[in-house]
Amino acid sequence: MPTRMMKAIRLHEFGGPEVLRHEEVAVPEPASGEVLVRVRAVGLNPPDWYVREGMPGVPPEFRPPFDLPLIPGTDVSGVVEAVAADVPGFTAGDEVMGMLRFPGLTQSGAYAEYVTAPAADLAPKPAAVDHTHAAALPMSGLTAWQYLIDVGHDHPSPFQEARHRPVALGGDTTVLVNGAGGGVGHLALQLAKWKGAHVIAVASGAHETFLHGLGADEYIDYTEQRPEDVVRDVDLVLDAVGGPRSRRFLPALKRGGALYPVYFGEFDDEENARLGVTVSGTQVRANGAQLAELGRLMEAGTIRVAVDSAFALADARAAHERAARGHIQGKIVLTVP
Ligand SMILES: NC(=O)c1ccc[n+]([C@@H]2O[C@H](COP(=O)([O-])OP(=O)(O)OC[C@H]3O[C@@H](n4cnc5c(N)ncnc54)[C@H](OP(=O)(O)O)[C@@H]3O)[C@@H](O)[C@H]2O)c1
Repeated sequence: MPTRMMKAIRLHEFGGPEVLRHEEVAVPEPASGEVLVRVRAVGLNPPDWYVREGMPGVPPEFRPPFDLPLIPGTDVSGVVEAVAADVPGFTAGDEVMGMLRFPGLTQSGAYAEYVTAPAADLAPKPAAVDHTHAAALPMSGLTAWQYLIDVGHDHPSPFQEARHRPVALGGDTTVLVNGAGGGVGHLALQLAKWKGAHVIAVASGAHETFLHGLGADEYIDYTEQRPEDVVRDVDLVLDAVGGPRSRRFLPALKRGGALYPVYFGEFDDEENARLGVTVSGTQVRANGAQLAELGRLMEAGTIRVAVDSAFALADARAAHERAARGHIQGKIVLTVP
């Protein structure tokens, strides 16, 4: 039988957006436990550019081994095309979304017309939501969910020994979300509001109206004011920027409070103990059941995903160039005709 071919974006070398090549490759075959998805849209996430660059910012011990060429991409929305014999519950034609295999590795990711997907990573696409918005949800939504609501697994994080345990959120909790305009931040803000918390959103000036529209009770433009200088006594800081500067939020916390940096940084356990605060994080993991819960919230209009910009699959390079300019409001998406 002749090999079926598809268009995909591949990397043959690590580097800038110019290494993303639009090529013709074989359609992958679903293995046991998998379905083949006809991709309609792909959500972009920071790991896509970390992979494209060869993960220079990730310590070598955490860097997965890659073989080139590879097709990047984890987040997808599309239509089930074929189902492995051992997969119950899926039928050709089902509309699905998912974050695939993360943090595992694949050579054949979502920047393609077809992708194979572990059935456990998929959730039904909400009927009222188009593929572009559904593809924008998975990694950002699951990260916000696993940080704020429920980790949902027992895998140890590569970045800390203790298991991450989200604090209970309610009407008497104040949550500061740093990086609130971005993929993780804008969904974390909405999940905290769903739980009844008072939310302070921190972002650059262009996002003010957007963030109030998502329910932010207070807003700080970090280009005009340093949030760590003006905020005190919050219960939780979700730092959706993270990294080495995350520690500056410690004085904003009340005793008993918690700081959740989404990207690893350096912390001093003695200082945390002296302040009586917890610093904790996790690494997002694929989880179709949690994604289905997020999908129900989206279907009900409780949360929404904002699309910063959409590009055709063939223009993945331009999409990565957009990401490199920063100040993303919501998500960048590739559409597949
Ligand atoms: N732990 C995990 O498993 C996990 C999972 C997903 C993502 N992440 C990490 O989380 C981070 C965010 O991911 P994302 O997908 O949300 O990225 P993103 O969509 O690019 O959002 C980042 C946001 O941060 C804002 N920002 C940049 N500098 C800032 C500053 N100094 N202060 C406040 N806001 C600032 C940006 O807009 P403005 O500057 O215009 O406000 C942008 O809206 C990345 O480092 C990613 O690697 C970790």
